[in-house]
Amino acid sequence: MRQPLVMGNWKLNGTKASVEALVKALVEPAAKAEGVEVAVCPPVIFLGLVEKLTEGTRIQYGAQNADVHTAGAFTGENSPVMLKEFGCKYALVGHSERRTLHAETDAVVAAKYEAIQQNGLVPVLCIGETLAQFEANETKAVVETQLKAVIDHSGIDSFANAVIAYEPVWAIGTGKTATPEIAQSVHAHIRAYLAGFSADVAAKVQILYGGSVTGATAAELFGQADIDGGLVGGASLKPEDFAQIIAGAKQ
Ligand code: 13P
Repeated sequence: MRQPLVMGNWKLNGTKASVEALVKALVEPAAKAEGVEVAVCPPVIFLGLVEKLTEGTRIQYGAQNADVHTAGAFTGENSPVMLKEFGCKYALVGHSERRTLHAETDAVVAAKYEAIQQNGLVPVLCIGETLAQFEANETKAVVETQLKAVIDHSGIDSFANAVIAYEPVWAIGTGKTATPEIAQSVHAHIRAYLAGFSADVAAKVQILYGGSVTGATAAELFGQADIDGGLVGGASLKPEDFAQIIAGAKQ
């Protein structure tokens, strides 16, 4: 059995006060969601605060990005070693906003995935197609290419210690959630594709869905056979919504 995982991606949002209020509001829903792992990805500047606030709770946390280097003359970056020191369990890699707004290619994503993993963090590899690719029926080919770049670089066995997040770009921040049927069919395809390399790894890897998940849509999405939880943007900033999403993962 794969453990359900619900992860909030706060993106570029928050103040010290709102981070404190949000984490405190999540302590109880996380405590109640036995069997479900709950994690948040704040902007890095709040990691020290989140480290303190989550102490003794069931809330895990991660970073939204990491540099490929561990140290050196790379102004403005954060190294996976630093993220680890601040108690991060996870680091997102390949989010569509990084791929498009920061020109991160599949090669960059693969290198970052490796750096994250080699420094003791669990990479959450984000993949997904644009609206044009969805309409051109290219979804399966796109996710295969994005996965293959990482498999070629780090090997299929690296997915024994990684999470995949399928996030159709057309569903991110748009309010248009993929239907449970569409999401399940892509998740099943991802798992089948990985099974072509290793059936064991494919059966065990958690595949999260992301893209306009809300408290109202979570339970049905997470009830699909190959959907192991969610990577949640907007709704993860609203404690009541996120609590409902966490509850939706408890099958
Ligand atoms: P929304 O839930 O706001 O659509 O964002 C999804 C996302 O990008 C999570 O990484």
